[in-house]
Order: sequence, then C-alpha cells, then structure tokens
Amino acid sequence: MSDKKTIAVVGATGAQGGGLVRAILADPSGGFRARAITRDVNSDKAKELAKLGAEVVAADIDDEASLARALAGAHGAYFVTFFWAHFSPDKEKAEIRSMARAAKAAGTKHVIWSTLEDTRQWVPLSDNRMPTLMGEYKVPHFDAKGESNKVFTEMGVPTTFMNTSFYWDNFIYFGMGPKKGPDGTLAITLPMGDKKLPGIAAEDIGKCAYGIFKKGAEYIGKTVGIAGEHPTGAQMAAAMTNALGKEVRYNAVTPEAFRGFGFPGAEDLGNMFQFKADFEEMFCGARSLAVSRALNPELMTFAQWLAKYKDRIPLE
Ligand SMILES: NC(=O)c1ccc[n+]([C@@H]2O[C@H](COP(=O)([O-])OP(=O)(O)OC[C@H]3O[C@@H](n4cnc5c(N)ncnc54)[C@H](OP(=O)(O)O)[C@@H]3O)[C@@H](O)[C@H]2O)c1
Repeated sequence: MSDKKTIAVVGATGAQGGGLVRAILADPSGGFRARAITRDVNSDKAKELAKLGAEVVAADIDDEASLARALAGAHGAYFVTFFWAHFSPDKEKAEIRSMARAAKAAGTKHVIWSTLEDTRQWVPLSDNRMPTLMGEYKVPHFDAKGESNKVFTEMGVPTTFMNTSFYWDNFIYFGMGPKKGPDGTLAITLPMGDKKLPGIAAEDIGKCAYGIFKKGAEYIGKTVGIAGEHPTGAQMAAAMTNALGKEVRYNAVTPEAFRGFGFPGAEDLGNMFQFKADFEEMFCGARSLAVSRALNPELMTFAQWLAKYKDRIPLE
C-alpha cells in the first residue's frame, strides 16, 4: 500500500464530483486516491469510475450512517448537495448537517463544501426588489447552502467553502441552450442586462477542488470562489455565434419576465440572476479568475468550453 491520501467524493457520478474523481485519477503521482460515493455501485457510471481506478462505495446523503461508513479512513471529503433533484432547501440543510456530522465523526482532515452565497445577507427578506420564496428565502438553492456554512464551523470540521459559478454545461443539460425565435434566429435568454455572469465548465469545478486539496492546510477555514470567465450575455451570444457558425442573439429579459416563465425553479433562478446582476461587482469579485487558474491551470474560458462541447448543445 502506498501512503496516498484518500479523498471521498459525494456526487462522484455527477458533474462536480465526477470532475474531481477524474482529476485525482489523472494525476497518479499526485499523492491522492479517489473514493467515489454513489447510491448505486452497479450503475454504468459507477462501474466506469471503478474501471478508471476509483474505489467505489455506496452511500446516500440522506442516510448519515452510510455517509459515516463511506468517510471512514479518508483524509478528505468533497461535499455537494442536489437541489434540483428535490427543490427543497430544508432537505438540503438536513443533508448538509448530516455530511458535516459524518465528517466530524470520521475525523476527516479536510472537507471541501461546494456552497453558494446566502443572498439574504445582501437582499434581506424585507427588500421587495425580488419576491420572498418558500416563506424564508430569496434564492432558495443559494440561501440554504450559504446559511449552512456555519454548521461546519460550529462543529469544528476543517472546511474550505468553495463558491461555484453558473455551469456553461447548462446550455446543454439544463434547458438553457439557444432557442429559435419567431423569425427563426437562435437566442439565449437571460435576465442579466449588460452585466457579467461568472461561469465555468462543470468539469473545471472538480479540477479546482483538486487544486485546493493539493494545497491543503492553507485553504482550511477559507472561502474561495471559482469561475473560468465573467462574460456578459452579449459576449456569450457572440462566442456562440462564432463557435456554432450560426447567429445566436442575446435576448435580455427582465427578472420579472424570467420568474414568470413557469418552469419548475423559474422564480428561484429569476431571483438568482437578479442577485448576480444587482451585485455584479461583489459577485464577480468573489470569483477570481487568477485564483481559479492557479488552482487549475487547465481552466477553460467560455470560447474553449464551446470549442470542446459545442456539438452537444441542442439547437431547438
Ligand atoms: N447548474 C449550475 O449552474 C450550478 C452552479 C453552481 C452550483 N450548482 C449546484 O450543484 C449542485 C448539483 O451538483 P452536480 O451538478 O454535480 O450534480 P449532478 O451532476 O446532478 O450529480 C448528481 C449525482 O449525485 C448523486 N446523488 C444524487 N442524490 C444523491 C444522494 N441523495 N446521495 C448520494 N448521492 C446522490 C447521483 O449519483 P448516484 O445516482 O450515482 O448516486 C448523481 O450522479 C446543486 O445543488 C446546484 O445547486 C449548480
């Protein structure tokens, strides 16, 4: 047995965790081994990770005992929750508490918690610029994560708080790709006006996390924001036009209009984009491109992401 340190990764068959497992496995002399956590060790994705060299273990973040077993003997752990699987900030908060407790019990030496801002620190519930959702949130899928950061601190779990950014992969998998308007021209629709939207290739999130685990102690207790670029909607449309060889326009709508689109999560996302636009300087400033690139020298720009993935973008 080598003296490699094991990193246990929640969401290993998904976007964030998958990027981290692959980053660890791609660097065999890096001093780390990957333990992929999944609910189904027999799924195709789990088997693929095992084939690549990951240790694959079963656990569910809704089952604290299973998590504690999955963390046993690991040096580090990567924690992420799955808001869009259930749309419940309360469930997310309970899962975060379970993960923190399991890490505390297992004596995990370094946790990276994939979090986001509690927007209510900037937009209190009394601020009527955007509606309050589910009784106590402005951006439920942000607020529940940010509110829960303190759980790790209070339990004394050595944690890095990693604020992620909008995945450009949302243009492929999240229904946000360019759509044809009445005149047949493609357009991306965002309520961002002329403001910058920090974005990242989903696979780069795991690579940045790997950079944090490699740095180790200096990142414990710290908050780090990551992004690959801070393009405006117009700049993203121009880059898509260039990459796809077809005109893609930027359809800037108001946050009110976006909230009214009616798909599940539209109000949450409308508030989220409004928050990013209204607090552009703070939000971009909290996601340094230089820091992200230092953690992950392969960090992609939007044009580089397009060059790699443009053929997967559904053009409706
Ligand atoms: N989309 C964006 O732009 C964006 C930006 C920033 C942050 N986020 C946040 O990213 C989070 C989602 O991360 P992701 O995109 O990496 O997720 P993802 O790609 O949807 O990955 C989900 C994976 O997690 C596993 N999983 C789901 N429920 C689980 C459970 N109860 N216990 C254990 N594993 C479970 C599943 O694996 P198995 O089926 O193998 O168990 C699945 O493959 C969300 O909370 C979202 O708010 C998203």
